[in-house]
This record gives sequence, C-alpha cells and structure tokens, in this order.
Amino acid sequence: MENIQWSDLSFGYIKTDYNVRCYYSNGKWGALETSSSELLNLHIAATCLHYGQEAFEGLKAFRGKDGKIRIFRMRENALRMQSSCRGILMAELPVEKFEEAVLQAVRMNERFVPPYESGASLYIRPLLIGTSAQVGVNASKEYLFVVFVTPVGPYFKEGFKTTPVGIFREYDRAAPHGTGTYKIGGNYAASLVAGEIAHEKGYSAVLYLDAREKKYIDECGPANFFGIKNNTYITPESTSILPSITNKSLIQLAEAIGLKVERRKIPLEELATLEEAGMCGTAAVISPIQRVDDVETGLSYVFSKDGKPGAICQKLYDKLRAIQYGNEPDTFGWTTEV
Ligand code: PLP
Ligand code: COI
Repeated sequence: MENIQWSDLSFGYIKTDYNVRCYYSNGKWGALETSSSELLNLHIAATCLHYGQEAFEGLKAFRGKDGKIRIFRMRENALRMQSSCRGILMAELPVEKFEEAVLQAVRMNERFVPPYESGASLYIRPLLIGTSAQVGVNASKEYLFVVFVTPVGPYFKEGFKTTPVGIFREYDRAAPHGTGTYKIGGNYAASLVAGEIAHEKGYSAVLYLDAREKKYIDECGPANFFGIKNNTYITPESTSILPSITNKSLIQLAEAIGLKVERRKIPLEELATLEEAGMCGTAAVISPIQRVDDVETGLSYVFSKDGKPGAICQKLYDKLRAIQYGNEPDTFGWTTEV
C-alpha cells in the first residue's frame, strides 16, 4: 500500500482492506457483512460455476480537489444489476442494499481512493452469484452479493488518446435476443477470443456489428460506441448492447452543450461520414477512436489523421471528468458524496 504509484496505475487489481458481502437464502437477503478475505468458500456445484449465474457491475469513486470522495451514479448501477438478475433468473438485490454496500466498501477502503492529482480513481466491482448446489439446469435458490474495490488508472493504456479498433465479422458478442443487454460474465467470456485477436493485431478493442445482419454498429467489447457529425451525438440503438451509464450521461452532456442527440441504428457505411467517434464506459471513460478497420473487407474508416482526439470528444470528456471530480457543480445530481 505504502508504495502505490497512483499516476502509474493501470486497470488492474490491487488488494484492498475489506470487501462487503450479503447472502440470500430462504427467500430473503441478510445483513451486510464485511470481510478482509479475498477468497470465497463455494460449493463445487454452485450454479455460478456451471451455468453462468453471475452478474456484475462497475462504477467509480473519485477524490476531488476538495478532498471529498464522490461516487458516480451508483443508483443506475443498482438498477442495472436488478435488470441483469431478471435476465438470468437470479434474486434481485434491493437498490438500498446495493447502495449501502457500495458506500461501506468505499468508506472502509478510503485510503485506497487515489489522490486528486493522480487522475486515477477507485473502481468498485459489485458481483452477484448463484451459490446453491444444482446439477440440473435450474436457477439457484441461494445467492451471494459481494462488493470489492481496487484503485485503477486508465482501461486503455493510452489514456485519453485515440486508438484503432477492429471489426472481426466471424465473432459475435451477443445475439439479438440474447443476453447482451445484461452485465453478466457469459458475455465477456464470449468476447475473449476476438478480443485477444484484436490485441495481437494492434487494436485496442473489437467493434461488434449486429449479429443478425452484420449491417449496423453494435458496441465495443467493454464500452458503447458513439459518433459525432453535423453537431449531432449519434449512438446505436440495439437489443444486444449494454445500456451504458456513461453513454446515458454523455447524451445529457451533449444536449447541455448544444448538440442534437440521435439514438438509432447506425449502418456500418455511415462511419465514413462521422467526424469523430469514441468508445465510452466506466472503465473506458471516453476513449476516442483513431480509426475503425473492417478487417475482412480491408475497408478503413479514419476519424483522426493526426492521432489527436476530436474537439467534441475532448469537450465531453472534460465535462464528464469535471463533474466526477467535483470541479464543476453537479447540476444533474449524478454524484453521491461519501
Ligand atoms: N458495454 C459493455 C459491454 C461494457 O462492459 C461496459 C462497461 O460497463 C459498457 C458498455 C459501459 O457501461 P457503463 O458506462 O455503464 O460503464
Ligand atoms: C466497466 O467499464 O466498468 C466495465 O465493466 C468494462 C470492463 C472492465 C468489463
């Protein structure tokens, strides 16, 4: 702990002091418990291990110039986790319990919230798993909710710099009526092979097309997609992408700075007309896209010739960060002071 180089942190895992746990059995959630162990004691037949009953969330706490710690939009994450639970038949955790556990995890690990100047933050990872022994394919009767935290730097090692992303048509992340809208482990397992290939070829992420027709932009492996043209913020409408809380926030910020907003299908060819493009998410924040390569067809769509982020990406990034770190008034009511 004593020698964490806050400014050099990547998006990794560092042990912190405590995690918070809550068990569900006999149809109800118990009291929050704290633990200093990084390990879980699991039944070998737990449904999370065999049938993927696992949902998670990702949110961040930021230390401001004023020393205060602010958590960004935690209620939205609580609601999305409930949606994920409905999606794979797990017991829903009450919003208040989620919020209480997150606050407790941040408070108990306060010394791991990176200093303001570092630009790093505390990543909060809630997860919910099915724990009862079940060899038939059925929902668990018991669940465990855990919140742990770890200090992180940028998800893409480049930080706020443009990077290239690739389209790999022989891989899908999620089906049109599958589980893409839920934040569950299976979706990420499904994205590992394509992600690995993309990294080997020098791309920071995979840009997925819609699985049915391969005609429209879906999202990136760990982040939503958005484009800018004609003073308009455009982001995909799709039944197979995660409803990103960062994207939802950027939509409001875009409107606040006078952009029009369109959430609609984005045909692949439309990339040629975009002035800027980016990935957005809790971990990714805004990661501006340098170019998209459609690897099989050999077509390239370039958004930044000089490698620099576009002006609107920069403006949205600055606005978002200013609210997260408490440098600008939180007129939207997005942050919770710890
Ligand atoms: N899309 C996927 C697949 C993600 O894993 C994430 C990360 O959470 C996002 C989008 C961005 O969502 P959010 O802004 O809520 O973090
Ligand atoms: C996040 O942005 O919080 C994510 O969960 C993305 C990735 C780390 C899975």
